[in-house]
Amino acid sequence: MNILGINAYHGNASAAVVCDGTLVAAVEEERFNRVKYAAGFPAQAIAYCLREAGLKLEEIDHVAVPRNPYARLGTKLFYALRMPSFARGRAKVLARFTGIKEALAKAFDSDPARISAQFHRIEHHQAHLASAFFVSPFESSALLSADGLGDFASTMWGTGRGNRMQIADAIAFPHSLGLYYTAVTQYLGFLKFGDEYKVMGLAAYGEPERLEAFRDIVRFDPNGSSTGFRLGLGYFVHHRSGPEMSWAEADKTPTLGKLFSSKMAERLGPTRRPEEPLEQRHRNLAASLQARLEEVYLGMLRKLAEHSGLKSVCLAGGVAFNCVANGKIFDCTPFDNVYVQPAAGDAGLAVGAAYYVWHQKLKKARSFVMEHAYWGPGFTAQGIRGAIGASGVGREGCSVAELPEEELTRRAAAIIADGKILGWFQGRAEWGPRALGNRSIVADPRRADMKDILNRRIKHREIFRPFAPSILAEATGEWFEKSHPSPFMTLAYAVRADKRSQIPAPTHVDGTGRLQTVTREANPRYWRLIKAFQELTGVPVVLNTSFNDNEPIVCRPEEALDCFLRTRMDALVMGDFLITRNT
Ligand SMILES: [Fe+2]
Repeated sequence: MNILGINAYHGNASAAVVCDGTLVAAVEEERFNRVKYAAGFPAQAIAYCLREAGLKLEEIDHVAVPRNPYARLGTKLFYALRMPSFARGRAKVLARFTGIKEALAKAFDSDPARISAQFHRIEHHQAHLASAFFVSPFESSALLSADGLGDFASTMWGTGRGNRMQIADAIAFPHSLGLYYTAVTQYLGFLKFGDEYKVMGLAAYGEPERLEAFRDIVRFDPNGSSTGFRLGLGYFVHHRSGPEMSWAEADKTPTLGKLFSSKMAERLGPTRRPEEPLEQRHRNLAASLQARLEEVYLGMLRKLAEHSGLKSVCLAGGVAFNCVANGKIFDCTPFDNVYVQPAAGDAGLAVGAAYYVWHQKLKKARSFVMEHAYWGPGFTAQGIRGAIGASGVGREGCSVAELPEEELTRRAAAIIADGKILGWFQGRAEWGPRALGNRSIVADPRRADMKDILNRRIKHREIFRPFAPSILAEATGEWFEKSHPSPFMTLAYAVRADKRSQIPAPTHVDGTGRLQTVTREANPRYWRLIKAFQELTGVPVVLNTSFNDNEPIVCRPEEALDCFLRTRMDALVMGDFLITRNT
């Protein structure tokens, strides 16, 4: 039985195909249309998923769409009456949703009458929860989804047992941890969609000296009977004007209107304009924002653990990307196990909706665990060779060698140990926003100046943003304070004090690292590369950053070659080929 999950007309448009309970392919539309966080209809992502599964559109039995316009209808009507412009915007989106079958038929040059699949609408947060629990290794688990807003809710929690999820409760619009984080991100002068993680990085440079004010902005009783929180609505405007989101167009990055009111500046001081310098006051505000997020998030998780009596938790929604907060779960809650799948944000809804249909609706038994993130497009050796030939790297003063794996990883490790910057392109592309060793740029973690070198030569990012380490999974406990697996870079742990000076480049200013634990099973070739680096240097860690330069992560060999030639990367490994600059 074949199920197609589609996240359409929403940020991070994506598609996934599940065949007889096994995930076959999953990918974001941005990897194809090269528009970061692309919304719209993910026609290319769907086409790829079908191709990978060897299926025609007519062979799909179920189509799962992670939106249910009938969820929280009463709340929607209440706000629609108060905000007519918001209501009109929602109606437009709804009209697009009702036309998903037609959009599919049009994208595949087919007739809607020939699509025999049954269509399912799955509520946004139930799809988020399903995206984590149903692909997790846990038989039973507590579940929490938290984001900005989806189907008029921002937060949902419950429990999962076997092939069933039980929803305990949800928090409806306008109260939202995601919108809280976005509002303060905007206030601090970071206005682009997806900028929240920059502010999370900035928080490590400050002190949470304004925590009291932030406790008024998000209200939560750690000892109360309610699991939920409330926003101090005076600091916000979205409940009066509606959150202005534009995410219908596939060729544009979504935008979000201003969320905070003048009371925010009255309480916290003047807003920062994007071009203004970052001062210590801003860093302290970022630290206070993060500290309050952690208090509420971890407080909710503590209550969830107590109420459920379970030791494992599955997390999803954009807030689940807060790796700093996730890393504190082991010390601050009774949970011993955490699972966050790599596309914890809205892209993951495609997988979640599909699995919701398979388990919750069709009542099929669990049989699949997402143990790696490599569900996107892969390319044959012939395709890579052709792309190298067509790129003209030879004319650009580069040498190309095709090497057996052992020599390839040994030479690549030597290049890294020599302080050079290496592009690393292997196998199928990662699902989710993190490069996890298949579309990565890899560098020496031992050099304190590597962060500046990478920023100057390739990444051009804000200087306060950290780079991440990839570590051999078996060495995790030796180098970090925690050893719980973090295969998808969704947890940050403190680097052991005696190791910090050995890996300064991917150690953040607060001594933590957003690590990827690499197992031989999940990614044998990347594991061998790090192993070869360890044999040369004694350090089982490499710095790993995504293979891109202010664009979606490269997907095809052509994009990797283009990025390599455009930036000042020293070498590039693609499949079995090693490309080095001669000068
Ligand atoms: Fe969401």
